[in-house]
Amino acid sequence: MRKKKIIVAVTGASGSIYAKLLLDGLAQMQDQIERVGVVMSDNAKEVWRFELGNEDYDDYKFDFYGKMDFNAPFASGSAKFDTMIIIPCSMGTLGRIATGVSNDLITRAADVVLKERRKLIAVVRDTPFSLIHINNMKVVTEAGGIICPANPSFYSMPKTIEEVAQTVVSRVIDLAGLEQDSYRWND
Ligand SMILES: Cc1cc2nc3c(=O)[nH]c(=O)nc-3n(C[C@H](O)[C@H](O)[C@H](O)COP(=O)(O)O)c2cc1C
Repeated sequence: MRKKKIIVAVTGASGSIYAKLLLDGLAQMQDQIERVGVVMSDNAKEVWRFELGNEDYDDYKFDFYGKMDFNAPFASGSAKFDTMIIIPCSMGTLGRIATGVSNDLITRAADVVLKERRKLIAVVRDTPFSLIHINNMKVVTEAGGIICPANPSFYSMPKTIEEVAQTVVSRVIDLAGLEQDSYRWND
């Protein structure tokens, strides 16, 4: 299997734990991954500090890019990244993607992934949804993106917050086409 090039974008929705678990998981998958590019919004860092009580995102050995760094390779389709995962994805970022407002690296990279017909996975998080949110999810889906809401499942009997959050992250890793050992219903 060809190794994948993956973009991880973290925005300021609640659920920094999802980003942490995904980055932890990708760090263990070097045999399947050529490169991980990471970009975080300002609010993503603020929410991470608030919810997780640390700045551990600085510790990952991935390629980090500033939120306005349009020199990042994945700001252009020519760099051929396979998949972009936005985790968690705020309603603001979702709306900017749905309306083509590519005014930062996250929204530009999503624009590129969609126009190049590659895989965009948006782990949207808010509740409840307004019609604006629902319409934006519809538009992104019609443009080829995958809306993967941060809705945990409980049939694996998770015992900890990490195990609950991992039920979402495992689905994301599956959607990205990466191989992993995870709970499978009746397997
Ligand atoms: C603690 C905290 C939790 C938040 N949770 C959400 C959320 O679950 N969903 C959402 O869309 N916005 C949430 N927000 C608001 C976003 O951070 C805000 O709309 C921001 O402008 C999003 O910008 P970004 O997408 O560039 O990160 C939250 C903000 C804070 C401080």
